Amino acid sequence: MFDTARWTVLAPLLQAAGAGRDLLDDTIRRLTPEAVTQVVLNEIGEHGVRLDLHFDGRTTSHLRTDADVVVSLSLTDAVRGLYGTDERPWPSLAVRTAFAELDERGPGAWFAGRKGIARDVQSLLSALKPGRQDLGELSVTFGSDKWGDLHWYTQHYERHFARLRDEPVRVLEIGIGGYADPDSGGASLRMWQRYFRRGLVHGLDIAEKNVTGPRIMTVRGDQSDAEFLGRLGEELGPFDVVIDDGSHLNEHVRISFHALFPHVRPGGLYVVEDLQTAYWPRWGGDPEAGPGTSMGMLKSFVDGLNRAEVRDPQGEGSHLERDISGISFHHNIAFVEKGLNAEEGGPVFLRTLF
Ligand SMILES: C[S@@+](CC[C@H](N)C(=O)[O-])C[C@H]1O[C@@H](n2cnc3c(N)ncnc32)[C@H](O)[C@@H]1O
Repeated sequence: MFDTARWTVLAPLLQAAGAGRDLLDDTIRRLTPEAVTQVVLNEIGEHGVRLDLHFDGRTTSHLRTDADVVVSLSLTDAVRGLYGTDERPWPSLAVRTAFAELDERGPGAWFAGRKGIARDVQSLLSALKPGRQDLGELSVTFGSDKWGDLHWYTQHYERHFARLRDEPVRVLEIGIGGYADPDSGGASLRMWQRYFRRGLVHGLDIAEKNVTGPRIMTVRGDQSDAEFLGRLGEELGPFDVVIDDGSHLNEHVRISFHALFPHVRPGGLYVVEDLQTAYWPRWGGDPEAGPGTSMGMLKSFVDGLNRAEVRDPQGEGSHLERDISGISFHHNIAFVEKGLNAEEGGPVFLRTLF
């Protein structure tokens, strides 16, 4: 039902890219250099130079194979540049250019004709080792509404996601955007793909979507269908990050949370956006955001954090009381942290003493 084969090469490669060279080399051999080369080419797109990739004594040429400018790199370094965490300069980089004959226009024209070489080479190298823009900049670049217009969310995302940025995360965002138009939407998926350079980014929408990207997978489905979400979590999870930016109907937000939170990895985060609808009756909210609303659900988790103060700390408690280790609220957005809530409470005699 879900295209899990899509990640057969990418998932282990993203994991191995942060490990030592030997382990990465072994992984490339196991996945085959051809398949890994295809991953690299999908990620970097078109460029006006030839790219020679070297691995285990073999060299293969890519991009504009008839170009006069050739950039040579080991395949391992290309993967580390894209998905690794190593900031050092390229260990294997070499650039070769064909020299044109000097003609009647003289050396000035000869040098002027070579000015574009650096630009072409740099464009390829920047694609092979993308820079680190912050989320506000990325939001503007990709046209996401998470920074600007009605929402100012990226500052909060930056604070909570910074520790995950360089990890090989799995992300799921409910709501791709663009509603019924299949060719519209996906701005935030593209933003996450760039922010999480080692991330696999999944988007769920009730409408058919044509959003593509080297590490983006879209799924069509309804966020109010718990059984469907359970299967999605089983096959594409566990997720490090789930973001609910879908219908924003209170009932849907609650169904999605209960169905998907079990598929969040310990240490991961479940984010709910646009919590203003918890106060709006037409969206299933109420002005007090009481029980039954999305905020009501989230507020109950706050009490769950302190369960050991009123109940037997050795008792089992609900899985949400055990598995939620923190919650942060900001204007219209909340971050629920998955982790063991196992701290002991104060001694029983204290509860009745004052
Ligand atoms: C606010 S837009 C998402 C914007 C997107 N997350 C972004 O940041 O670019 C909401 C999307 O949720 C989708 N949606 C609405 N109801 C849904 C449901 N029940 N299940 C899944 N998606 C739904 C809509 O089709 C729409 O594309």
